[in-house]
Amino acid sequence: MIFYFTGTGNSLYAAKTLDNNLISIPQIMNSENLVFEDDKIGIVCPIYGHEMPEMVKEFIRKSELHTDYLYIILTYGNRHASAVELAKKTIEASGKKADYIATLLTVDNFLPGFDMAEQMKIDKKVDGQLASIKADIDAGRHSIEKVTLMDRAAHEGYMKLVKHQPETVWADFEFTDACIGCGICAKVCPAGCIHVENQKAARTGENCQACYACIQACPKNAIKMKELFGFAEKNPDVRYRNEHIQLSEIVAANNQNAE
Ligand SMILES: Cc1cc2nc3c(=O)[nH]c(=O)nc-3n(C[C@H](O)[C@H](O)[C@H](O)COP(=O)(O)O)c2cc1C
Repeated sequence: MIFYFTGTGNSLYAAKTLDNNLISIPQIMNSENLVFEDDKIGIVCPIYGHEMPEMVKEFIRKSELHTDYLYIILTYGNRHASAVELAKKTIEASGKKADYIATLLTVDNFLPGFDMAEQMKIDKKVDGQLASIKADIDAGRHSIEKVTLMDRAAHEGYMKLVKHQPETVWADFEFTDACIGCGICAKVCPAGCIHVENQKAARTGENCQACYACIQACPKNAIKMKELFGFAEKNPDVRYRNEHIQLSEIVAANNQNAE
């Protein structure tokens, strides 16, 4: 059994490669019963500012996971810093114990930092990394990826810059006049915080996870990031979704609006 959170499909692709029994965290978060049992249980998610998304942390806090082997895979695009250590702390604070934590280098979907066209050209050897992670998990290997002093320093430097974590920092975007009210942004939002009214999308909820699913999936490229800390979008013309993942899969994973 593997739980996943995804904005643009990298973590979903990893989850699909590692297990057949996939459970979307946004889709089960509001269930009353968050008790699960399996021989092996995995959690796959992106890192935002070196941390797991808020919703994933909340899932970890609220759920009961009965298993002999708990593994965490953190997808990232450029610098994981002390993400493994921070994830381990979150797991332990919930009274759980992780047997295996690894990072997976993928396309970086962080629009203020990277040009998606350039990112998609780089071969990050994702399948090779996944094969090695899968072999570890199949063998029940116990391993928590090492965090170096440099990794820790990178996170400290980052925190000095931003002061808050991504959901309050990196989610400043606007719906432009190019919006045709198709509602795809609302359907890919894992927090249900976008709605369409009078043929125009708008952010109406408070629980934005800063996953950029809405921005990246908009067929009209009508959602633009605002500049923050001197970071503007590297290339506002190009958007990203993992090449192995369909838009319908992101919708199925994240949609909070009952049809
Ligand atoms: C708001 C935000 C913050 C991010 N922060 C980091 C980061 O600190 N380090 C990093 O290497 N990648 C970072 N990324 C990139 C994602 O972790 C990476 O692209 C991930 O694989 C996306 O997964 P998904 O396709 O399942 O949504 C960030 C992305 C977003 C949207």
